[in-house]
Amino acid sequence: MTDESRSETTTIDRYGVMGYPVSHSRSPVIHRLFALQTGQNIQYELLQVSPEKLETAIRQFQRTGGKGLNITVPHKSEVTKLVDQTSERASTAGAVNTLSFKGGEIYGDNTDGIGLLRDLAVNLGVAIEDANILILGAGGATRGIVGPLLEMQPASIQIANRSLGKAAALADHFAHSGPVSACRFNAVPVSRPYDLIINATSAGVKGEAPPYPAAAISEISFCYDLSYGLQPTPFSVWARQVGAAQSVMGWGMLVEQAAESFNLWRGVRPETAPVLKQMKITA
Ligand code: ATR
Repeated sequence: MTDESRSETTTIDRYGVMGYPVSHSRSPVIHRLFALQTGQNIQYELLQVSPEKLETAIRQFQRTGGKGLNITVPHKSEVTKLVDQTSERASTAGAVNTLSFKGGEIYGDNTDGIGLLRDLAVNLGVAIEDANILILGAGGATRGIVGPLLEMQPASIQIANRSLGKAAALADHFAHSGPVSACRFNAVPVSRPYDLIINATSAGVKGEAPPYPAAAISEISFCYDLSYGLQPTPFSVWARQVGAAQSVMGWGMLVEQAAESFNLWRGVRPETAPVLKQMKITA
């Protein structure tokens, strides 16, 4: 790097994604495409940070003038302890995926839920109001999406999990906000068909294939996997095989949550459709 280019880059607003591991993250590509599209001059870095170094790394990024960070697996819950102010949606989710550094303070937000809603409702035309929804899994990903989904007034949300305890705890947590109940995978009530089935387990990512409840899927079911890959995920393949109306991976949610973060940081909402296309994704 020449002295001239070095002095240029120091004036560029810096952002990044912190995770562990993080090398496979698509966020740098997505944010560079957003920046090109909107004419924003930003730098976006991949930052691999282990859990024990998270606080030091965030403080250092802040101290050296960084403007914002995306926080990804496994730090989304832990980082809530390090922020000075938290948005309501991040508090409800119990997780932060976006940090903004302003006036010496750290502001934590969560754009995952709105990212999923935008992909479902705007990009894919899935009606959530009055829908019967089944969510598979009861970890952090589920906790992040139940609140935003309930705001759209579905008829019901059933959380099914391998072990009942975590699903029951989440159903209790959200019981005051809407009709949420819990069960084990092998006890999913099928008296009414599910309009929307969301896979929020981490099974596929770990190469595991749990006994997903095939009886819950019917020809009206829209199946959505929060996971995504260049090859179809195990859940998306399974959903097609057992007769779902449609089976989609979470590429759109990834791009939409990024657009929401970009908007928080830069005050400009990028167009997501061309970015999804440019990533050569058949979502
Ligand atoms: P995340 O933040 O991605 O949700 P998490 O909090 O570790 O990650 O939760 C992972 C979820 O995937 C849990 O619901 C977990 O089920 P358990 O609560 O029974 O552990 C689910 N999960 C992971 N591997 C699974 C598998 N092989 N079969 C079924 N469920 C699995």
